[in-house]
Amino acid sequence: PVKIVTIGGGSSYTPELMEGFIKRYDELPIREIWLVDIEDGKEKMEIVGAMAQRMWDASPYDVKVHLTLDRREALKDADFVTTQFRVGLLNARIKDERIPFSYGMLGQETNGAGGIFKAFRTIPVILSIVEDMKELCPNAWLINFTNPSGMVTEAVMKYGKWEKVIGLCNVPVGAMMKEPETIGKTLDQLTYKFAGLNHFHWHKVYDEHGNEVTQDIIDAMYEGKDGGLPANIADVPFFKEQLDTMKMIPCGYHRYYYRQQEMLAHGLEEFNDPEKGTRGQQVKQTEAELFELYKDPNLDHKPEQLAKRGGAHYSDAACETIASIYSNANRHIVVTTKNNGAVPDLPADCAVEVSAYIGATGAKAIAFGELQPAEKGWLQCMKNMEHCVEAAAVTGDYGMALQAFILNPQIPAGTNAKRVLDELLIAHKKYLPQF
Ligand code: NAD
Ligand code: G6P
Ligand code: MN
Repeated sequence: PVKIVTIGGGSSYTPELMEGFIKRYDELPIREIWLVDIEDGKEKMEIVGAMAQRMWDASPYDVKVHLTLDRREALKDADFVTTQFRVGLLNARIKDERIPFSYGMLGQETNGAGGIFKAFRTIPVILSIVEDMKELCPNAWLINFTNPSGMVTEAVMKYGKWEKVIGLCNVPVGAMMKEPETIGKTLDQLTYKFAGLNHFHWHKVYDEHGNEVTQDIIDAMYEGKDGGLPANIADVPFFKEQLDTMKMIPCGYHRYYYRQQEMLAHGLEEFNDPEKGTRGQQVKQTEAELFELYKDPNLDHKPEQLAKRGGAHYSDAACETIASIYSNANRHIVVTTKNNGAVPDLPADCAVEVSAYIGATGAKAIAFGELQPAEKGWLQCMKNMEHCVEAAAVTGDYGMALQAFILNPQIPAGTNAKRVLDELLIAHKKYLPQF
C-alpha cells in the first residue's frame, strides 16, 4: 500500500489529483494521502481536504485523507511526495505580474521577472523539503508541479543532490489530448517526441506508419482547429512561415517570445483595465468560486469550473507518472528530468523537459537529437538564464540576480531592469531570506 504526501494541499487543484488517483487505483493501490499546508493555507486545505475525502468516500476504495500543518509528520515513510505549493499565495503572484507591467515589461507567472522571482521564493523551500526527505523518507520520489517547474526541479537535482525527482507540466498533456483529432487520428495512433525546457519545448509527431505528421497538425491549427492551448495564454497566432521552416510545433508559451510585442500589448491592456487586471487577479476570482463549490457537502467530484484554470488535466501527468513508477510500466510521459544527452545542444547533467519512458528507476529521456540554429540559440540562452536564476536563488547574490534579469529576453536591459529587480526584492522581502 502506498503513502502519498502532497505539499501545498490547499491548492484548488487537489480534487484534480484525487480524480487521477481514483481512476488509477488498480495500478496504484494507495492507502493514505497526507495533505500538507501552512497556517496561511489552513482554511483552504480544510475545505479542499474535506472535498478530497468525499471523493474517496464516493469511490469503491478505502483511502484516508489526512490534513496537517506538520510537514515532517506527513513525510515520515512516504512513497511519493508531490509538490504544488505557492510561496506567498496569489498575492505574491499578483506582485510578480504588476510590478514588471508597471515598467512596461511582461508580468507572468513563469516567464520574465515574475517567473524569476517565483523561483527565488520557491527554491529555498523545495530545498528544505528535500532535506526533510533525506531524513524521513530517503527512498521516496519527489514529483514536482510547483512553478517554475523546470528550474525548481533542476535545483532539486543540482543543489539538493536529490536524484529521485521528476518535474511536471500540463502543457504537453493538453497538446496530446487535442492535436490528434485535428488530423482525424487518436493519440494511440501517434508517436510524440518532445524536447526543450519547461514552458519552452517543441515537439514532432509521427503516425502509425512512421510518417511525420507535424506539418499536418500545424496546417490544421491554422484552419482553426484546437491544439490544446492552456486557458491562461492569449491565443496570438505564431507566424506560419516561421513554423513551416522550424518544422516543429512550439509550446503555447513560445508566444511570449516569438510574438513578444503582441503578447506584451495584450498583457498590458488587461493590466490597465480595472475590470480585468492581471491573470493572477482573474484567477483569484476563479479560486474563490471554486472554494465556494468545494464547501458544498454534497459535491464529491471535480467541478467543471476547474477547467478555467491553466493547469487543468495536471493529474493526468502527475498520477500517470506515479503509477508508471510504481508498476514499472515504462510509459511515454513528457517530464522534466536529467538530459543525459537526449538534447545534445545542452549539458548532459542539466534538466530538460522531454519525452521519456517512466518506470521503476524513474525517467529515461528519449534521444531527440540536435536542433536547428534558431532553436539551439534560444535553448542555450534560456537554459543559462535558468542556471543564473537558480544560483541567485540559492546564494542570494545580487549580481547573479542581475545577470539573470539582463539575460532574460522578457526584460529589456538597463536602468529599469535594475529598478524592477529592486522593487520585487522589497515587495517579496518576507519570502526571500537569502537576499
Ligand atoms: P495556491 O495559491 O492555491 O497555493 C497552493 C497552496 O500552497 C496554498 O494552500 C498555500 O498555502 C500553500 N503553501 C504556500 N507555501 C507553502 C509552504 N511553504 N509549504 C506548504 N504549503 C505552502 O496555488 P495554485 O494556484 O493551486 O498552484 C499551486 C502551484 O502549482 C503553483 O506553484 C503553481 O505555479 C503550480 N502550477 C503548476 C503547473 C504546471 O504546469 N507545472 C500548472 C498550474 C499550477
Ligand atoms: C498552465 C501551466 C502552468 C501555469 C498555469 C497557470 O498553463 O502549465 O505551469 O502556470 O497553467 O494557470 P492559472 O490558471 O493559474 O493562470
Ligand atoms: Mn506548466
